Amino acid sequence: MRATTRMPTTATRMIVVSSIAEVKDAIAKARDERARVGFVPTMGALHDGHMSLVDCARRQADVVVMSIFVNPLQFGAGEDLSRYPRPVEEDERRAKDAGVDVVFRPTAGEMYSRDRSVGLTAGELGSDWEGKSRPGHFDGVLTVVAKLFNIVQPDVAVFGRKDLQQASLVKALVRDLNIPVSIVIAPVVREEDGLAMSSRNRYLSADERQQATILNRSLSEVRVQFAGGVRDTAALEAAGLRVMASEPRVQTDYFAVVEPATFKRHERAAPRFAAIVAARLGSTRLIDNMTVGPDDQD
Ligand code: PAJ
Repeated sequence: MRATTRMPTTATRMIVVSSIAEVKDAIAKARDERARVGFVPTMGALHDGHMSLVDCARRQADVVVMSIFVNPLQFGAGEDLSRYPRPVEEDERRAKDAGVDVVFRPTAGEMYSRDRSVGLTAGELGSDWEGKSRPGHFDGVLTVVAKLFNIVQPDVAVFGRKDLQQASLVKALVRDLNIPVSIVIAPVVREEDGLAMSSRNRYLSADERQQATILNRSLSEVRVQFAGGVRDTAALEAAGLRVMASEPRVQTDYFAVVEPATFKRHERAAPRFAAIVAARLGSTRLIDNMTVGPDDQD
């Protein structure tokens, strides 16, 4: 249900633009009509997880802008930048069906000038877990998100809990740099068997796709243990790791129980803490997380 009526300029047709000037122009028109602008940044290869963010943005805004940009800055050497899926037409169709008004699909050249010198660093919140496994990744994410915020200047931007450390860092970004945008974090959308939706799931072979459910099952075990009264972080992690070990073809990168705002471990876990996992299946690396306690959010 829309909170407000959609703007007549954008209600009829989704527009797809690739230059910063064009997207600014499209948004300026909407803003002239006092539209509230919602923003969903993505790297494309859209799935129902991305679509849930669009639904969430549509509930909060009159005009929804989606960016589709496979950001080279957040990929390390040897990562999947070149093979990252780019199904251009399918993405456009999905964005249109979901009610996106403006798709911003810049090239790397449009986003990064050759003289580029200044970027952001994630600091301590980005130093462990994904930050440790993927050096420079969060610096690249924060730099592109800050650039996109400056280009789109949204009232509200929606991110997924699926990438929980990223979501916490984006909240820290707007807090620490006083960026005037509200950040909304939407729940993890899962396949029927519990696998968190991800653009990278399409890399999985049929066997790996079966094995991949172990991430969800190990996180669920932590939730069950927590519900049963276990609070010792090491014991919760050991329970999750035991489940991971039952699928020896899946290599665990890390498995931990952390406080979500800081991504720090404490000796004892508390409600709303998150179990987090990263694992490799062949050449594919997947991450997932689950909140523990009565306020389970996904
Ligand atoms: P991407 O992986 O395309 O994800 C775009 C957004 O969709 C992120 O906020 C992510 O958390 C969310 N998302 C992905 N899978 C989800 C799922 N199963 N349920 C709910 N939300 C999900 O994350 C990025 O792109 C990039 O790092 C980006 C923020 C766009 C910066 O380049």
